[in-house]
Amino acid sequence: MTHTTHSPSQSFTDTAHLDRAGYDAMYAESLADPEKFWGDQGKILDWITPYTQVKQTDFNFGKVDIKWYADGVLNVSANCIDRHLATRGDQTAIIFEPDDPNDPAQHITYNALSDKVNRFANVLLSQGVMRGDRVVIYLPMIPEAAYAMLACARIGAIHSIVFAGFSPDALANRINDSGAKILITADTAPRGGRKTALKSNADAALLHCSDKVRCLVVKHTGDQISWTENRDVDVKFLMQHASPDCPPRPMNAEDPLFVLYTSGSTGKPKGVVHTSGGYLAYAAMTHKYVFDYHDGDVFWCTADVGWVTGHSYIVYGPLANGATTLMFEGVPTYPDAGRFWAVCEKHKVNQFYTAPTALRALMGQGNSFVENYDLSDIKVLGTVGEPINPEAWNWYNDVVGKGRAPIVDTWWQTETGGHLLAPIPGAVPTKPGSATLPFFGVQPVILDPTTGEEITTTEAEGVLCLKDSWPGQMRTVWGDHERFQETYFQQYKGYYFSGDGCRRDADGYYWITGRVDDVINVSGHRMGTAEVESALVANATVAEAAVVGFPHEIKGQGIYAYVTLMNDQTPSEALKKELETWVRTEIGPIAKPDFIQWAPGLPKTRSGKIMRRILRKIAENDTGSLGDTSTLADPSVVDDLIANSIYNS
Ligand code: WT7
Repeated sequence: MTHTTHSPSQSFTDTAHLDRAGYDAMYAESLADPEKFWGDQGKILDWITPYTQVKQTDFNFGKVDIKWYADGVLNVSANCIDRHLATRGDQTAIIFEPDDPNDPAQHITYNALSDKVNRFANVLLSQGVMRGDRVVIYLPMIPEAAYAMLACARIGAIHSIVFAGFSPDALANRINDSGAKILITADTAPRGGRKTALKSNADAALLHCSDKVRCLVVKHTGDQISWTENRDVDVKFLMQHASPDCPPRPMNAEDPLFVLYTSGSTGKPKGVVHTSGGYLAYAAMTHKYVFDYHDGDVFWCTADVGWVTGHSYIVYGPLANGATTLMFEGVPTYPDAGRFWAVCEKHKVNQFYTAPTALRALMGQGNSFVENYDLSDIKVLGTVGEPINPEAWNWYNDVVGKGRAPIVDTWWQTETGGHLLAPIPGAVPTKPGSATLPFFGVQPVILDPTTGEEITTTEAEGVLCLKDSWPGQMRTVWGDHERFQETYFQQYKGYYFSGDGCRRDADGYYWITGRVDDVINVSGHRMGTAEVESALVANATVAEAAVVGFPHEIKGQGIYAYVTLMNDQTPSEALKKELETWVRTEIGPIAKPDFIQWAPGLPKTRSGKIMRRILRKIAENDTGSLGDTSTLADPSVVDDLIANSIYNS
């Protein structure tokens, strides 16, 4: 395969933080002496007590332990707010663009942000929240979500955001697993002109939680909601009466900042724990270099704060750098497919960061939606979440960026805290579909999946692992360090295993080929197939279910569910609809199967193990290479499944 290489223009490189020589030198330095390199880079933050220790990390299974800046003391909210007040108190910190384009945008200055966060922090204290307590945040994309995060950080509480698209059950599970004392939600959430009843979801979730959990409600739309006395609290009202002064609590670098639940290959989502010093330093550094962020730029990441992308690149990275960050409440297609570009024009966005799935959806609507707007302020375009197909890459480059803006394809994970593979835009030429080269300190390796040996030739294909730690790495799974070690450090000893397949080309560029475990990537969101399966089998009509991914034009991967019904059930379209709705309510709309196939039998080995490989091939319409099916207990089920697959029905 040959690929077009796109080099940054000389004028871009001239004003960029780094050119090629700069990147090469800094990368070499980061590997030659990590202690010195990260010791220097940690100064991107303000420390109350400077660290004397930099890196104490052990990847050995059984002893996995990751600490950065372990004796340093800082406060994350002071780094994101207070330290900027003297020089940029009147600069906009957050631009809030509401769902309805006719509602006014808000420009929240650093001074105003300080006022709100201090008040919010005092409200939390008044509700009995103490250092180390967990606070679950279930909010739409409104400024109060950022205030709540930073207020937790200010008093040393640990936030855990649950994406507002998750169901009451999913919310309850996360409140219970984290042992949260407080749930913060809003009345209703407008998105794309429709409203989600967040408070009533919260009410439903709290039925399954300890009655000690309090519910802080942001009255955002003013819609009618039910109210439980002695449990529900009106946050905005309390903020008005709270003091605008709450001293930032000195925290250890290794104190947890947040827990964020993410899907894995087992049924139960795990709480990814990120700590304070290393995470913030890494988020700030990657934000600065990968987006080539300069003072005064307007930065827009279209993710939701319910995902790690929103944590690192809407809130923590940008605010630590004193940036202007845009928060968008709406969706890319409301009121029409030009909304992203209308917002870019309106707020003169300089760096724009979105997901390939959004680009594919917009690309299909035609170029006029882009061409109606002046996008000349855009300097860098970013993507994240899934491999970007070259068609979408080229459209982004040609139609949105007019060939002027370097595209940064950033590969990373909830677990990594920030980018691991990404081009530094003034330095590294790009190739459509490749996340290119590692960030500073990152040592990617490709292992042979069967032997676990490192493939040392430049050209290589296998599983992607990391050889050594970086400051933004997750530290543990909430409440289950064993699971942390087993998930990431057991299969390939001495390495962090990403779960992704990867190819390295002759230029040393990395190309992510997708997950190699039972995780699928739906619209850039990670979904555990086991999670969807357990939701399905929880329905009384279902005897057995197997879920795999299949190619989906817009979403990247769709959810393909093979369902075996109980003997007394008759397959029908109505039952399919019922099961779709069931999964939506069990997990949330993002988990709804795109295709359900009735499976009178599933391909199993004689010992009863489902051969998922075969199910994947059928769902991918790749039935020419099913491989050996002779070990199946009943090989004939395969023919039935092929005959009734999405491609043949
Ligand atoms: C998985 C992580 C990190 C924020 C968004 C998703 C896939 C992510 C890329 C990319 C190819 C990508 C990987 C990864 N992924 N970015 N640029 N190219 N694949 O975070 O939910 O933790 O999912 O998303 O498969 O393992 P996440």
